[in-house]
Amino acid sequence: MAQKPKICVIGGGRFGLMHLRAFRQLANEGRCEFLALADVDEQLLDERAWEFGMRTYADYGEMLDRERPDGVTIATPDHLHREITLAAIERGVHVFVEKPLDVTASGCRQIIDAAAGGGLLLEVDFHKRYDPYHLELHRLAREGKFGEIEYGYAWMEDRIEVPRDWWPSWAGESSPGWFLAIHMIDLFRWIAQTRGRSVYATGAKKKLASLGLDAWDSISIAVEMERDISFQCQVSWILPDAFEAIVNQGIRIVGTEGIMEVDSQDRGAESCFAADGRMATHNLGFFRETKDKAGRTVYGGYGIEAIADFADNLAFLLDGGKLDELAGKYPDGLDGLEATKIVAAAHESLATGRLIDIT
Ligand SMILES: NC(=O)c1ccc[n+]([C@@H]2O[C@H](COP(=O)([O-])OP(=O)(O)OC[C@H]3O[C@@H](n4cnc5c(N)ncnc54)[C@H](O)[C@@H]3O)[C@@H](O)[C@H]2O)c1
Repeated sequence: MAQKPKICVIGGGRFGLMHLRAFRQLANEGRCEFLALADVDEQLLDERAWEFGMRTYADYGEMLDRERPDGVTIATPDHLHREITLAAIERGVHVFVEKPLDVTASGCRQIIDAAAGGGLLLEVDFHKRYDPYHLELHRLAREGKFGEIEYGYAWMEDRIEVPRDWWPSWAGESSPGWFLAIHMIDLFRWIAQTRGRSVYATGAKKKLASLGLDAWDSISIAVEMERDISFQCQVSWILPDAFEAIVNQGIRIVGTEGIMEVDSQDRGAESCFAADGRMATHNLGFFRETKDKAGRTVYGGYGIEAIADFADNLAFLLDGGKLDELAGKYPDGLDGLEATKIVAAAHESLATGRLIDIT
């Protein structure tokens, strides 16, 4: 009988909400004990406590010291991941960190070394890996269907409400590179089993600048990878409010023996309602909310499954499983580092206009 891991969450904002849903769901299923949430926003804590019923703390250190969880998930703004992750690791707590693991390669290495020193699980939320269509891409690549992969192309584009309305206070600290490209870079690396060698990027600052926000509108990244594989990634977060989905995304991969293309946005279901004032696509693969027969809310989709994977890994470890046995079965710190190296190099290339060697 698997032990139930005790879990806390740090950061209960827009995406932290997904963590809360995942652990409420898992607790209902008897797969974890969901203890508490820490966030510096006390009004938000009240709202989340009302909805999800866990204990709340304004100070994450106090939460970790009092609750003594087996694992903690971190969904604070990107530039705060490092300090908070290290604080949890110092207390001997397994960690699951939102992407990017950190916005510097040195910060990622510091986190990786600390987790390894403590014998702790360090998992990164690269949830594109859990999309069933991307799992299929990965499976076909592992079976050799592509032959030798030669190149890939991915795009990911958010509606402008993301930097403009979601978090104008820290959009300038992030970018379409940190927020979006990092997902697709990890996805391609995982499918092609390769690492970046050099990076060249170009970008534009027009639309957000016109709204008084100092952040990149769009970035085009060209990555040369090991084994003569190349990857191009175009990202932006300035799509018009009328666009049919919050995110437009997809990936295509070409090898010596085959090609596969996945439209990860338009899965074939479209609507148009007067109240919305626009056409809309429905990506139920990412997130869905239904009711079970007892009338309880049930959450599903790969956004939830990626987080649930952490709880399942913790249960495996609590039952006596070894960290080594999980190697390669989840996005780990080294995956976080490799993706961060590429995105950090893309920003260096944007700043200098040069090709950046990351070997
Ligand atoms: N995996 C994904 O696809 C995905 C999607 C969206 C966001 N994210 C990531 O999730 C993270 C959070 O993004 P978000 O959209 O939820 O941002 P957000 O601003 O909505 O939420 C961040 C929360 O962290 C809290 N916070 C800030 N400092 C804190 C501290 N010191 N201690 C405790 N809480 C603190 C804030 O009060 C806020 O509630 C980011 O790293 C983002 O890149 C990932």
